[in-house]
Amino acid sequence: MRRFFNDCKMAVQNCNILQGKRGLVFGALDERSLAWHVATRCVECGADIVLTNTPQALQLGTLPQLAKEAGWPVVPCDATDIDDIRHLLGEAQTLLGGPIDFVLHSVAQSLNLRRHRTYEKVNYDYFLKTLDISALSLHKILQTALEMNAISDGGSVVTLTYLASERYLYGYNDMADAKAMLESVVRQMGAIYGTAHGVRVNAVSQSATSTKAGTQWDEQACFARYVDDLSPLGSADADACADLCVSLFSDLTRKVTMQTIYNDGGFSHTMLTGRLMSEFRNAIDNKNDITQ
Ligand SMILES: NC(=O)c1ccc[n+]([C@@H]2O[C@H](COP(=O)([O-])OP(=O)(O)OC[C@H]3O[C@@H](n4cnc5c(N)ncnc54)[C@H](O)[C@@H]3O)[C@@H](O)[C@H]2O)c1
Repeated sequence: MRRFFNDCKMAVQNCNILQGKRGLVFGALDERSLAWHVATRCVECGADIVLTNTPQALQLGTLPQLAKEAGWPVVPCDATDIDDIRHLLGEAQTLLGGPIDFVLHSVAQSLNLRRHRTYEKVNYDYFLKTLDISALSLHKILQTALEMNAISDGGSVVTLTYLASERYLYGYNDMADAKAMLESVVRQMGAIYGTAHGVRVNAVSQSATSTKAGTQWDEQACFARYVDDLSPLGSADADACADLCVSLFSDLTRKVTMQTIYNDGGFSHTMLTGRLMSEFRNAIDNKNDITQ
């Protein structure tokens, strides 16, 4: 199985499926970021890219060094600030030599999560900030891009979401509301941008993956193991996320839009696997042994 997955990776790396395409990637902070994996795979597949993150993230993270080594330009932008977005979209088109063919929106943050404020005790200023950064920012980027005609006809926009948008997940907090809103922006803006310019807008609902944002949550490690056990194909890693994004940026998926696409090894549609059932059975048997 592992060899099969490695062969798939090699095939995508060498496919040049994005040859001649110009991409803008939001949200790479360091090497673990999903956005960094997506950016790397897009370039391997032939694309030219511009990276962006907030000025603070560029100071704190390792992106400037990584981008310098790779030779990829970085333009600072707070994705909640319209003036920043306008400047970024102009700069990116200049650096890339034309309108943008694809955009990755990989942006999220919750101060309630970071400061361990539980859902029934949230700080409402933080809550609004969570929604602004993690959901409204996509609306702001698309509204500004539409005004400036910055994305080429038939272009593709992908954002990253999580299953807690539609099911209760203990501890995911106000990020669950932000993801639900984000997926709604995908549908609404997908219809509007698609009708106007044939631009596709989709969300990839990714498995829990170990990154800076992915480890803000206290119970992450224990949850990751449970999810992996409950996914028939096992959890999707950052490479699998990158491959799916590449296919969504390519012309092969030209009729796919307004969707939330699950990249989760089947987790979202599984109640119980045989593997997990045996673990439960063993745990119960062991407990019985102890009590006898
Ligand atoms: N890691 C996971 O388990 C997982 C699972 C599903 C979905 N996602 C989503 O994937 C995306 C990327 O997360 P990640 O796990 O790679 O973590 P990450 O921390 O590497 O990425 C989050 C990025 O958002 C950026 N950001 C925060 N505020 C911003 C702002 N105002 N303007 C511009 N950028 C801003 C951060 O600087 C950071 O680069 C997020 O939307 C996250 O919710 C992650």
